Amino acid sequence: MKILVLNGPNLNMLGVREPDIYGKKTYTDLIGMIKEHCDSKGIEVIFKQSNHEGDLVDYIQQALFDKCDGIVINPGAYTHTSVALLDALKAVAIPTVEVHISDVDSREEFRKTSYVSLIAKKTIKGHGFDGYVEAVDFLCAL
Ligand code: DQA
Repeated sequence: MKILVLNGPNLNMLGVREPDIYGKKTYTDLIGMIKEHCDSKGIEVIFKQSNHEGDLVDYIQQALFDKCDGIVINPGAYTHTSVALLDALKAVAIPTVEVHISDVDSREEFRKTSYVSLIAKKTIKGHGFDGYVEAVDFLCAL
């Protein structure tokens, strides 16, 4: 089992960015936590993060050539705007779980729209960093 964990814009700023919403732990802490979980389950995991929409599209396409069995994606703000990410996920047709650290439904109105959720098998919102581990487990159980 091989999983791509893909994070979008500003998620490299975890720990610094709006700690009241996203917590005080860093992106490195997040990666460490997911890696430990995947190692314990014998899952191979690839981590990518970018602040650029086109890079994220490239990473999704690459997941097909890397023979990934699942994608865990937190598209950050591109969640609410990006048809390109939706189309890339449709193109590769790899089972995908969408994760949001915060509960996007209880924030601004514009955060309630998600293009990625149109293709995601599951969307996990507001579970903090644990949402990523839940997403990995969901993909494993498929
Ligand atoms: C986020 C929620 C998005 O609305 C926001 O733009 C982010 C992070 C989350 O993880 O809660 O960058 O995806």
